[in-house]
Amino acid sequence: MPKNLVVVGVQWGDEGKGKVVDALAEHFDIVARYQGGANAGHTVVVGENKFVLQLLPSGVLRPQKVAVIGNGVVVDPEALLNEVEAIGKLGIEVGDRLLVSDRAHLILPYHRAHEAAAEAARGAGKIGTTAKGIGPAYEDKAGRRGLRTCDLREPEIFRRKCAGVLAEKNRLASAVFGGGTLDEGDLVDRYYEIARRIVPYLTNVSAYLNHAIDGGKCVLFEGAQGTLLDMDHGTFPFVTSSSAAAGGAATGTGVGPTRLGTVMGVSKAYTTRVGSGPFPTEAAGPDADKIRERGSEFGAVTGRPRRCGWFDVVAARYSARLNGLSALAITKLDILDHLAEIPVGVEYEIDGQPIAEFPAEIEVLERVRVRYQVVPGWQRSTFGLHEWAELPQKARDYLHFLADQVGTEIAMVSTGPGRDQTIWLGNSSVVISP
Ligand code: IMP
Repeated sequence: MPKNLVVVGVQWGDEGKGKVVDALAEHFDIVARYQGGANAGHTVVVGENKFVLQLLPSGVLRPQKVAVIGNGVVVDPEALLNEVEAIGKLGIEVGDRLLVSDRAHLILPYHRAHEAAAEAARGAGKIGTTAKGIGPAYEDKAGRRGLRTCDLREPEIFRRKCAGVLAEKNRLASAVFGGGTLDEGDLVDRYYEIARRIVPYLTNVSAYLNHAIDGGKCVLFEGAQGTLLDMDHGTFPFVTSSSAAAGGAATGTGVGPTRLGTVMGVSKAYTTRVGSGPFPTEAAGPDADKIRERGSEFGAVTGRPRRCGWFDVVAARYSARLNGLSALAITKLDILDHLAEIPVGVEYEIDGQPIAEFPAEIEVLERVRVRYQVVPGWQRSTFGLHEWAELPQKARDYLHFLADQVGTEIAMVSTGPGRDQTIWLGNSSVVISP
């Protein structure tokens, strides 16, 4: 069993990473998030309870595990406190099991206001963001004007830095976006109170994790969103503003690449995307509607209907290479149970010529013609199965086909939202038998 593991989305997010991380967390001491913010929506079902975690690592649901929010995450302190309170009401106390990096950047109210105005100004070209202030917070980080969680420690420092940035934001809001401005006194007063509750969670996450690894502890690094939404490698500009691919785990926690261990990619047995941007294997009409209905494909954070389509081998191969995947977890296999035939996108063509690589330009990606290979469906329920041998032969053939096409072995198959609705494949290098 590997010591440390990065779990990353292979597609455009919503692959079911929350369930996979929750199922794996049992075998790790610490679960650490490394990027994104409260834009993630990890739905985890434990017994009768359904949890949607946006900022907290999924591992927090297991009582003995330490949950870490790395420096690469943008932290909305109000969202964090609300989430801690919400799971507390369901009987899960985070207490001192939650650690937040003192170097993580803050999402403040002006980020959300800026995002709403910027999206409205883009009109038809809008990105379709989750409206959580993620992009503007990362802009301020890269622009070297962002406030960090450590700034909450000293009220006077917070007030001074906040006043400087807010003056600029207010000028921008009225001059460029024609929007309302925020009052410095109100904002600072409100955050003094919030700071008091956040500061006890702050720590140097890099030091904590590295010492823990030195002491023999195992860390699971939990990616949010997906590789195709990665700021560098995704379908830019229709991406999120962080490093969602596995490499982000190093910069986003301060743990060096040599210590990250193996990488497991999570992919649905088909593909979905929420928000705008190219989606070559998108299905239309009743096929898409049926998958959306059977898979409850509506955003966990925004409630938006997800766009649905077929498994995309070209994109998955691209993602496997970017992440250096050791293995795949295939989720929501059961959603395809009704189909007599399942198309799988195996090649892209431009002007009748196959193209070898996932293109950089979205204009090209929007024009690709996908060549499909149609694979027989199994038309039997696989819902809740937890043994490989119980799967219909054609479902096994489908999974073998995906593994062969992508060139990555499959370590786990998910057949339902519950922890035990999972098939572990014993011959994998990263498999962890229950
Ligand atoms: P942002 O992350 O809110 O800036 O949104 C940028 C893009 O990423 C939009 O297309 C969102 O729909 C998408 N996105 C952000 N978070 C998630 C997620 O957790 N799952 C799926 N899509 C996401």
